[in-house]
Amino acid sequence: MKTTVLKIDSAKPDFNAITTAVSILQQGGLIAFPTETVYGLGANAFDEAAVRRIFEAKGRPPRNPLIVHVSTVDAARQLADEWPDSAMQLCDQLWPGPLTIVVTKSDAVPDVVTARGSTVAIRIPSHPVALKLLTESGLPIAAPSANRSSGLSPTQAEHVLRDLDGRIDLVLDGGQTSGGLESTVLDVTSYPPRLLRPGLVSPEQIREIVGSVIVPSAEMESEGTLRSPGMLGKHYSPRTPVICVEGDATPEVVRLLSAGLSIGWLAFGKELACDRLEIITLSDDPREYSQGLYASLHELDGGRLDRIVVSLPPATEDWLAVRDRLQRASLGY
Ligand code: TXA
Ligand code: MG
Repeated sequence: MKTTVLKIDSAKPDFNAITTAVSILQQGGLIAFPTETVYGLGANAFDEAAVRRIFEAKGRPPRNPLIVHVSTVDAARQLADEWPDSAMQLCDQLWPGPLTIVVTKSDAVPDVVTARGSTVAIRIPSHPVALKLLTESGLPIAAPSANRSSGLSPTQAEHVLRDLDGRIDLVLDGGQTSGGLESTVLDVTSYPPRLLRPGLVSPEQIREIVGSVIVPSAEMESEGTLRSPGMLGKHYSPRTPVICVEGDATPEVVRLLSAGLSIGWLAFGKELACDRLEIITLSDDPREYSQGLYASLHELDGGRLDRIVVSLPPATEDWLAVRDRLQRASLGY
């Protein structure tokens, strides 16, 4: 399959590019498109064969359900069996935006989308390209991040092509995404809602709207408490092994360098310069850090380095989503 790439103006999406993408969706094809978080790999959520193609293109296990993207709260409610008060309040305040809610599903949603589960994850994205695709097609779009399963999420069209060139029909290239990290996934089927995946919407923002949120701790997770199925095990990983370090990473970097290895260092504040060492220092502001995180990991993951060392940001709630992704990226090495 040949993958077509079309440039698209993120602020004012060009009509022709949108029309091409919509016609691919209508015919059961796959398109990658920018959202305000990361690039998504979309198909018509009502077309079972098209949704199955998403799983094939990504190499995604069929037990890992997909997020359905819609453009209105009414469209979201048609996919749900129940719409709790907390859903109403959260969507009112945070949609369009990087919050995905999990609700009990209606019969309208094919089982392949939800991995045969009884709930469905839904969000209204705020990116103009994503919204235009939704409004022009009139379809709900099932879309995971546009990367091979367990790999790094894409924040640029080039990242999508690195993983999926030849496996999908179209990439809409709208440049770098603004958020850089995935949406927050929140189970609202009971109260207080439970955080399944930390993301760009913080627990504090959720608390301000609905009063309370359950944030599973690292200990609860290791005891196997319910999580979003896609959060099990290694995920969001570059090909190069990642080593996460709490506090000062200098001794670890020095140790690896003296063992003769080439090192990429995702630093936080402090730096050390040396041959065989590539350093990227990210901001100490969580929002700015999130924006640059995947692009930096993609950059260090070009194949020339033996290890990527990451200085973990502090273990505070502000950094929950960033630390979650970094720790998962380092699992299994
Ligand atoms: O920012 C985002 O959320 C991006 C953009 C494209 O919207 N999408 C994304 O999708 O990150 P994906 O598939 O890479 O991650 C979705 C996560 C997975 O961990 C999946 O297991 C979880 O949401 N999920 C989907 N449906 C679920 C459900 N019914 N119950 C619990 N978790 C669910
Ligand atoms: Mg993903």
